Amino acid sequence: MNALAATNRNFRQAARILGLDSKIEKSLLIPFREIKVECTIPKDDGTLVSYVGFRVQHDNSRGPMKGGIRYHPEVDPDEVNALAQLMTWKTAVADIPYGGAKGGIGCTPKDLSKSELERLTRVFTQKIHDLIGVNTDVPAPDMGTNAQTMAWILDEYSKFHGHSPAVVTGKPLDLGGSLGREAATGRGVVYATEALLAEHGKSIKGLTFAIQGFGNVGSWAAKLFHERGGKVVAVSDITGAVRNPNGIDIPALLLHKDATGKLADFSGADAMDSNDLLTHECDVLVPCALGGVLNRDNAGDVRAKFIIEAANHPTDPDADEILSKKGVIILPDIYANAGGVTVSYFEWVQNIQGFMWDEDKVNQELQRYMTKAFHNIKGLCQSHHCNLRMGAFTLGVNRVARATLLRGWEA
Ligand SMILES: NC(=O)c1ccc[n+]([C@@H]2O[C@H](COP(=O)([O-])OP(=O)(O)OC[C@H]3O[C@@H](n4cnc5c(N)ncnc54)[C@H](O)[C@@H]3O)[C@@H](O)[C@H]2O)c1
Repeated sequence: MNALAATNRNFRQAARILGLDSKIEKSLLIPFREIKVECTIPKDDGTLVSYVGFRVQHDNSRGPMKGGIRYHPEVDPDEVNALAQLMTWKTAVADIPYGGAKGGIGCTPKDLSKSELERLTRVFTQKIHDLIGVNTDVPAPDMGTNAQTMAWILDEYSKFHGHSPAVVTGKPLDLGGSLGREAATGRGVVYATEALLAEHGKSIKGLTFAIQGFGNVGSWAAKLFHERGGKVVAVSDITGAVRNPNGIDIPALLLHKDATGKLADFSGADAMDSNDLLTHECDVLVPCALGGVLNRDNAGDVRAKFIIEAANHPTDPDADEILSKKGVIILPDIYANAGGVTVSYFEWVQNIQGFMWDEDKVNQELQRYMTKAFHNIKGLCQSHHCNLRMGAFTLGVNRVARATLLRGWEA
């Protein structure tokens, strides 16, 4: 089942639990606007090359639409659609005043020079500048894009609309980016895990963690679990995997990865097959890499008691069913990885106010939002007798449905 089908299925189940009117259900599923633009740029050698850029704006009933822009060869309208919809539920679960959007350009960023990437980003911005904006749709980085990409969008957009730092988040600090933004998704994952474990009378200290993915989210989550006394017993990335049953020294592994670019040959752990990471012995499994990694082929072999979905859509519906029958508790992506968009919201607030916060304030507010959202989800799990995924979906969908109804449909 692809990401869009799985997202629609979760949405429909939540709509049924909530008893939503079928007309509202239909209106919430259909995106507000889908944009597809042609972006032609001269390459460095003077030849012309064309790419297709997308922006799906899913819903704006609770505020400006919000979501990343990814540069990836497999960017396709269905996936962008699913991710835009997920952003709508995610911002509602986190209770930040945004809707949902997602965008991307079908390209291979590693095959483009920096100046080609800059030209492509500027042409894409020229094509969509009238449709994004501080109070309309606020892009952020995603796969294949970064703070530099946001700086180019900010610059190009500002040529048309005047200086507008709040039009994008995830910017460089020098252009109004927020302290704490880089770590925010991983830190949010840790706050979410703390809230879940506390509910079960446990804490991070002394528990074992297996982490798939050691990029932005995975490495920050690993570092913060380690700092809190958690034992990270296995870590994998695209280059391989390592394990140490006594706990990996994460700061040392980060230094090794920085120096060598890979996890292999780290003296503080043994090499392992990265295919075994998801079924490795641990208390808490944290997928921080790709979608669909937990499926009917491996779900039965998972040994963790808790799964924290730091990646988007890591568990397919078959695996969800198998894991829930085994009694594995899954903290769903639309909540677990909401720390990034929450600190993006703080960045937007700081830009609008023209007053920047210190990092402690950012982290304290992030913890407050993540903890509150967890208790809101638990409340719905209790009243609807459902699991955490449906608790999160019903929370998000209900907030968006209420906002839609309050605004009304008068033309
Ligand atoms: N960065 C954010 O703020 C953010 C916010 C919400 C959700 N997410 C989601 O979190 C996930 C990770 O995002 P990121 O920003 O850390 O990306 P990233 O590119 O920084 O890191 C991805 C990591 O996954 C690893 N990886 C890739 N293929 C793998 C494989 N087959 N096996 C094991 N590891 C593999 C890479 O080596 C890398 O370490 C994605 O699903 C993303 O959508 C990220």
